[in-house]
Amino acid sequence: MKFFLDTANLDELKKGAEWGIVDGVTTNPSLIAKEGIKFEDRIAEICQIIDGDISAEVVSTEAKLMIPEGKKLAAIHKNVVVKLPLTREGIKACSALSSEGIRTNVTLCFSAAQAILAAKAGAYLVSPFVGRIDDIGWDGNQLIRDIVDIYIEQGFKTLVLAASLRTSLHVIEAARAGAQVGTMPFKVLDSMFNHPLTDKGLDQFLKDYQKAFEPAK
Ligand code: G3P
Repeated sequence: MKFFLDTANLDELKKGAEWGIVDGVTTNPSLIAKEGIKFEDRIAEICQIIDGDISAEVVSTEAKLMIPEGKKLAAIHKNVVVKLPLTREGIKACSALSSEGIRTNVTLCFSAAQAILAAKAGAYLVSPFVGRIDDIGWDGNQLIRDIVDIYIEQGFKTLVLAASLRTSLHVIEAARAGAQVGTMPFKVLDSMFNHPLTDKGLDQFLKDYQKAFEPAK
């Protein structure tokens, strides 16, 4: 499973990069707006920090505008993946960009039917939103399981990117379901390290070592 960070914040990306476990980045208009910096500039900066797929989302809503916008984003860096919403116009743009060899990430996917459309349109990635499905009282990770099963059954090449992961349990369940990628905020990745027995165990190891080899003066 590849790990992507769902952030446009450079400090978070630098910290994640130091751990050597971040394979890519996803951004969306809300995350970019939070940073208050020119979109294209921030995408270019992110590409310098993480050497992997970097999703950059279009803000046009009509395919005839999404296509040139997507091409402009793809031209920023070879690692840019053009993110498109799962609408009729987004799917139209996805088909057009995919047929020209531009990699796409179809986002805002909330059903298996929508995921089938993304695969049919040649999407490189599809992003089902686990947390937002849980928010309305459904089971977000059941959707990941359904999409993974359907894609295997049908031999679709589109990769499943479990998005809107809010907890380490979401990550575990998405991994168990077979999602090839999980994207998460920095705080979720950071929380995956935590276990009280690790802290307690390390504390004891160091105390024992100190007692044996570094006696108090
Ligand atoms: O990757 C999609 C993500 O940005 C949405 O997350 O927590 O706003 O539902 P969230």
